[in-house]
Amino acid sequence: MAARVHAFGGPDVIRYERVPRPVPGPGEVLVRVAAAGFNPSDIGFRAGYMQDIVPMDLPFILGSEAAGTIVETGEGVDRFLVGDQVIGRLDGGGAAAGHVTASATGLAPAPRAIPLAHAAAIPVAGLTAWQGLFEHARLGPGTRILINGAGGGVGMFAVQLAAHTGAHTIATAGPRSAERVRGHGAGQIIDYTRYPVHEALDAPVDVVFNLAAIPPGDAAELCGVIRPGGSLVSITVPVEAPSGAGVTSTHFVARDDPGQVAELVALVDAGVLRVDISAAVPLAELAAVHRDAEAGLTGGKTIIVP
Ligand SMILES: NC(=O)c1ccc[n+]([C@@H]2O[C@H](COP(=O)([O-])OP(=O)(O)OC[C@H]3O[C@@H](n4cnc5c(N)ncnc54)[C@H](OP(=O)(O)O)[C@@H]3O)[C@@H](O)[C@H]2O)c1
Repeated sequence: MAARVHAFGGPDVIRYERVPRPVPGPGEVLVRVAAAGFNPSDIGFRAGYMQDIVPMDLPFILGSEAAGTIVETGEGVDRFLVGDQVIGRLDGGGAAAGHVTASATGLAPAPRAIPLAHAAAIPVAGLTAWQGLFEHARLGPGTRILINGAGGGVGMFAVQLAAHTGAHTIATAGPRSAERVRGHGAGQIIDYTRYPVHEALDAPVDVVFNLAAIPPGDAAELCGVIRPGGSLVSITVPVEAPSGAGVTSTHFVARDDPGQVAELVALVDAGVLRVDISAAVPLAELAAVHRDAEAGLTGGKTIIVP
C-alpha cells in the first residue's frame, strides 16, 4: 500500500491504495518501510507548489525520508545486506509506502539506541539543522544563538546540536512546545505567542537561525536583535537585512548528505541527540496529517507508519 498523489490539490488528492512492490535496480536496495517522516514540504509536493524547485511526475508517492529494513539488494550492492536497518533522505519521494527502493549510497545505518520507526525523523530535519548551524552559521562554543521556530522537527535537532556545541542557546516556542524545547537544551525560551522577540532578549545575539515560516517583514525585524557583524540564516523566507545593520543574511535549501546523516546517527547512539516523536500516524490517515499541519495543529515531529 502507498499514499499516492494523482493530481495536485488539497489533502483529498492523497489516495491510500495498493501499488506494485518496486524492484531495486543496479546499485539500489528494496527497503521495508518502518516509518516515513512527515515534513511541511510534503504539503508543497502534494499541492504542486514545489514543481518549480523539485518537479514531480504524476502520479507519485509522497515521503522524502524513511527508516526501514533492507529486504532485497540490487546488482552491485555490497555496502548493505538483507536484514540491515537503514535510514535516508529520498529526494524523489516514495517513503509513504510499505516498500521503497533507494540508492544504497544514499542510505546510512539506522541508530541502534532508538526504535527504528523513530529514526525516520532524522534525515530531512537533522540535515537541515546540521548544515544551517555548522556550514552557514558557523556555530562554535560560546556563540549566542537565537533559534526562531524551535518547536518543530528542525528545531528539535537545531536546539540539541547548538547546546551540545556549547552555544548559548535561546529559542522561541509556543506553549505547546516550550517544555519539549527546554528539554532539548535551550537556556532561555521566548513564548513568541506572547512577546515580540526583541522585548524578551536582554542582549543582542551573534546568530539568528530562522525556522519559522513568517512574513518577510517579520523575518527582517529579527535582524534588529543581531549584533553588528553577526548573521541571520533562514530556511524559510529569504531575508533582506536592513542596510546599515551590519548583518549577513543567508537563505539555503539543505542538500542530501548520507555522511552527515551517519554523524547524526552516531550522536543519537551516543545519547547526545534525542529523537522525540509527537505523533505516529497510520499511513492510511496521511491526508488527515496534511489537513492538521496546514491548520497549524501539529507540533513537533510526526512519523507515518505503514
Ligand atoms: N530550506 C530547507 O532546506 C528546509 C528544510 C526543512 C524544512 N524547511 C522549512 O522550515 C520550516 C520548519 O520546518 P519543520 O519541519 O521544523 O516544521 P514544523 O515541524 O512544522 O515546525 C514549525 C514550527 O514553527 C513554530 N512556529 C510557527 N509560527 C511561528 C512564529 N510566528 N514564530 C516562531 N515559531 C513559530 C511552531 O512551533 P510551536 O509549536 O512552538 O508553536 C511549529 O511547530 C518549514 O516551513 C519547512 O518547510 C526548509
